[in-house]
Amino acid sequence: MSWPRFAGLTFILALLTLALPPQAAQQTDRVTGLARNGDWQLVQANCTECHSALLITQNSGNRGVWQSRIAWMQETQGMAQLDPDVEESILGYLEENYGPRQSARRAPLPAHLLPENPWSQP
Ligand code: HEC
Repeated sequence: MSWPRFAGLTFILALLTLALPPQAAQQTDRVTGLARNGDWQLVQANCTECHSALLITQNSGNRGVWQSRIAWMQETQGMAQLDPDVEESILGYLEENYGPRQSARRAPLPAHLLPENPWSQP
């Protein structure tokens, strides 16, 4: 490659690097995909031993939902009891970063948009 071409390419690459938002790489952890806020490392330490954090980041729910998931894992999947302070922090993190999502499920279609039910009784 000729020197002017090389210099030109280097310049363009430098511009592209500068154009990227500086914190983009830091908002989610590169390895687990967890949002890097607050107590994310407690979640990494306590919740990625048996399954990937993807199971967490793909789910959502309010505090009660997260609490019941943890209780379910403790009752049926051999998960150890958490220190109460640790559990509080984890629940706070989960509800804040993976709370109920509007987009998680679409609203049901109104009845007039549904096809006629061929099995409905006359
Ligand atoms: C002792 C092992 C273990 C630990 C530790 C553990 N889990 Fe799980 N978890 C499981 C198993 C097993 C499943 C079921 C996996 C499957 O269905 O493939 C599961 C499933 C889940 C699910 C999916 C539940 C659903 O409704 O489909 C979520 C969300 C989850 N875990 C979150 C967490 C969080 C948050 C933590 C930390 C507080 C955690 N897990 C720690 C074993 C564990």
